[in-house]
Amino acid sequence: MTQHKIHLTVNGGLEEVSVQSNTTLLRMLRETLSLTGTKNGCSAGECGACTVLLNGEPVNSCMLLAVECDGGDIVTVEGLSNGKQLAPVQEALIQVGGVQCGFCTPGMLISAHALLQRNPHPDEAEIREALVGNLCRCTGYGRIVEGVKKAAKRN
Ligand code: FES
Ligand code: FES
Repeated sequence: MTQHKIHLTVNGGLEEVSVQSNTTLLRMLRETLSLTGTKNGCSAGECGACTVLLNGEPVNSCMLLAVECDGGDIVTVEGLSNGKQLAPVQEALIQVGGVQCGFCTPGMLISAHALLQRNPHPDEAEIREALVGNLCRCTGYGRIVEGVKKAAKRN
């Protein structure tokens, strides 16, 4: 399998990574860069557990090849906080009890963060629409939506 050298910005830092042609962005993040906050739920673009930002837009990292992201700007859940200072949506989810097993949480946080970046004051329908691609197997949607509303009130 051909190896490719690619360059990306990941959580604000420049990375040079060697990947195979068929390496997904998800696998590169978890296995090469050890950013295991991004989860692998289905490997099929269905669950949203692997959501990261690519050039500011939420994407399913299991459905992208790493080589397609050469030159891109990636933000994972590890990049939402500023040192020990959590992002508002992270704090809000903790405060409302919007985390059960936590497997969906990184992807939910990325999708919610992207929503709040483009629309600081979303209504409930807009929040649910933004999270439609993120499945929570613990079915804790009510509190997750409540957490995003709480974060929006701080904007
Ligand atoms: S792991 Fe990518 S959408 Fe489920
Ligand atoms: S908190 Fe368990 S899958 Fe969402």
